[in-house]
Amino acid sequence: MDINGYLSLLDWQKEPRGLYEPIEYVLAAGGKRLRPTLALIACKMFGGNEKEVVPAALALEVFHNFTLLHDDVMDNADMRRGRETVHKKWNVNTAILSGDQMMIEAYKLLAQVPETKLKHAFGLFSQMATEICEGQQYDVDFEHLKTVTIDDYLKMIRLKTSVLLATALKLGAYIADAEEKAQEALYQYGIHVGLAFQIQDDILDVYGDPATFGKAIGGDICCNKKTYMLLTAFRLADKETQAKLQKLLAMDIAAPHHKEEKIAAVTAIYDQLDVRSQCEAIMMEHTRQALDCLRQLPQNEATEQLRHLAEQLKTRKH
Ligand code: IPE
Ligand code: IPE
Ligand code: MG
Ligand code: MG
Ligand code: MG
Repeated sequence: MDINGYLSLLDWQKEPRGLYEPIEYVLAAGGKRLRPTLALIACKMFGGNEKEVVPAALALEVFHNFTLLHDDVMDNADMRRGRETVHKKWNVNTAILSGDQMMIEAYKLLAQVPETKLKHAFGLFSQMATEICEGQQYDVDFEHLKTVTIDDYLKMIRLKTSVLLATALKLGAYIADAEEKAQEALYQYGIHVGLAFQIQDDILDVYGDPATFGKAIGGDICCNKKTYMLLTAFRLADKETQAKLQKLLAMDIAAPHHKEEKIAAVTAIYDQLDVRSQCEAIMMEHTRQALDCLRQLPQNEATEQLRHLAEQLKTRKH
């Protein structure tokens, strides 16, 4: 059975519907299922028993979807996976509580990890969960900061995005009895793939096609997110363009059409400075570093899958 098959076995036909229906809704909306896939590939790399990793893989995907419910509230995002976000379709209270419940469900799934491995798995998972919260806090703090550096940004996305991918791999490998050194190499691969993945997400937030990306375009610009795109624009811009960007960041977008105007004006500056190609270059660099990490691992079909995945993510459209 594939990961969607396992996910479909989870039972959300419970009362009250107001709590469980949004969970069913978001989990049925698709998504790339990247985190559970990584856990299963890592298990396969070391000849582990897939059945022992499935609960952890499901926990990772349910946890990821939980973070999306809260993230969409925090980012004021109305669309995800081509559908209305939970707080938009229902309301913010629903996104908070169904999200909380998803985190609890994730831990219940994790509790099914073989008993001898549960304590350590629990520690890895909880460390990852804490780091995501830290990353998300930096992400929103940075909206109001003018002095964010590239290093600040990289630390923030390592926390909010990379550690989940890295932990998925490490957990899969740990449950499959991989040596610590191999677990660490996989973790580092996950960190670099995650950095590339988030930089690509930032690019797609400006240049993606909403029909395939599944999210609204320009969300990061509206929130004054300190993305790699924005930081690069500031670095490349002359004094005059920098002042223009500052003014755009201070722009009030509550009035009709102001949102569209802000997105168009910031995007025009990105175009003019060719910010995109700079971001793509750094994304490629992290992909290269991810591929480097694979050299320290056994070379088998699973390793090949990770190689392919890293290459594929470079050109992803959603
Ligand atoms: C979205 O993750 C959050 C980010 C880290 C950018 P994905 O792009 O993996 O979302 P789904 O699960 O495929 O929808
Ligand atoms: C993703 O950041 C990080 C988490 C959801 C934890 P984004 O805010 O960029 O993700 P999207 O673009 O909404 O999917
Ligand atoms: Mg978001
Ligand atoms: Mg966010
Ligand atoms: Mg994004």
